[in-house]
Amino acid sequence: MIDEVKIRKDFPIFDKNINGKPVVYFDSACMSLKPRQVVEAMSEYYFDYPACAGRSSHRLGEMATKKIKETRQSVAQFINAKSEKEIVFTRNTTESINLVANSFDLKAGDLVLTTDKEHNSNLIPWQLLSKRKSIRHEIVKSKEDGEFDVELFKEMVKGAKLVSMVHRSNLDGTAIPAKEIIKIAHENGALVLLDAAQSIPHQKVDVKDLDVDFLAFSGHKMLGPTGTGVLYGKYKLLEELEPFLVGGDTVEYSTYKEYKMLLPPEKFEAGLQDYAGIIGLGVAVKYLQLVGFDDIQDHEFKLNRYITEELIKIPRIKIIGPTNSALRSGIISFYIEGLNMNQFAVMLDSMSNVMIRSGRHCVHSWFDARGIINSARVSLYFYNTMKEAKIFVESINKIIKII
Ligand code: ALA
Repeated sequence: MIDEVKIRKDFPIFDKNINGKPVVYFDSACMSLKPRQVVEAMSEYYFDYPACAGRSSHRLGEMATKKIKETRQSVAQFINAKSEKEIVFTRNTTESINLVANSFDLKAGDLVLTTDKEHNSNLIPWQLLSKRKSIRHEIVKSKEDGEFDVELFKEMVKGAKLVSMVHRSNLDGTAIPAKEIIKIAHENGALVLLDAAQSIPHQKVDVKDLDVDFLAFSGHKMLGPTGTGVLYGKYKLLEELEPFLVGGDTVEYSTYKEYKMLLPPEKFEAGLQDYAGIIGLGVAVKYLQLVGFDDIQDHEFKLNRYITEELIKIPRIKIIGPTNSALRSGIISFYIEGLNMNQFAVMLDSMSNVMIRSGRHCVHSWFDARGIINSARVSLYFYNTMKEAKIFVESINKIIKII
């Protein structure tokens, strides 16, 4: 069980009041809060050993190198990768997906499949490649009820080269049956890239068990610093990829005429890295492991169930995705026909310090296809409380009366 009192002490924002009221932070799908341990580890880097990793052999440089290596090992262990060499540090999920899109051997006519709920980060790279290289990008439409259509996928995956799909949707919180999809893709000779930005902060993601080929995720949604992300890749596949950013620390040597590339993961990490951020990410991973995903999920489900049951009572509100809250992790995305939900979110904030995200959540394509203006999205995490959920519900009911 989550020890709310103990955990909330690690997040200083909960001690701060705005206009005499506490902050209710319900926007963790966009950006999670950071425990003080993460920020302290980053300050420690800047104050105590602010040197270059992987280059300088003085004591401070050695210390930075050691910490980065340890973080790589922690992340590898966190996702159950075979080796830390399969962990490439990037700036975020978007960069990780772009790395694959730009490095994977895709030629004119090659087929890439996505879902119809992709964030722009897993849509635009393939649309761009359709223009630049004439690859074929096709979308596996969800069933009427929003569920992933496995039968349709079985048909569409024939002849595909890459399947690049969102593991858990930032729009409605639902997950695709990743293990089944990966098995089917492999049987048809396609590789699979999973966008795990919204799954990895909330559930155990085991790359060996999934047998996934590439996995992309961000640090900032899982208690880590902004500007940190990871691309996991099976080592053999990483060896085959050509890096799309090159330069400092990507080569073993260079002459005026040629170069010899380093092995993965270094060949993908061009230029000086965000060492403080990476070290902070390592602490975030440890923090999550300490809290434990079983407790995280139980807690989120409990809050989500309460909020869902209360929202269902309000006739004008429509929830995106299944009404069964257990299928939506910490997400409750809702709208009122014909209403711009930005206005709703601003009212919640000014009335009760309840901070949610509103808009199209970078999934413009989904809203566009359905003619829905946008949605208001509550996204919960393990540091939220039932008391906060009640403040949210009370405020919603007041706003409904006003509008
Ligand atoms: N993808 C992030 C969100 O859903 C930015 O808020």
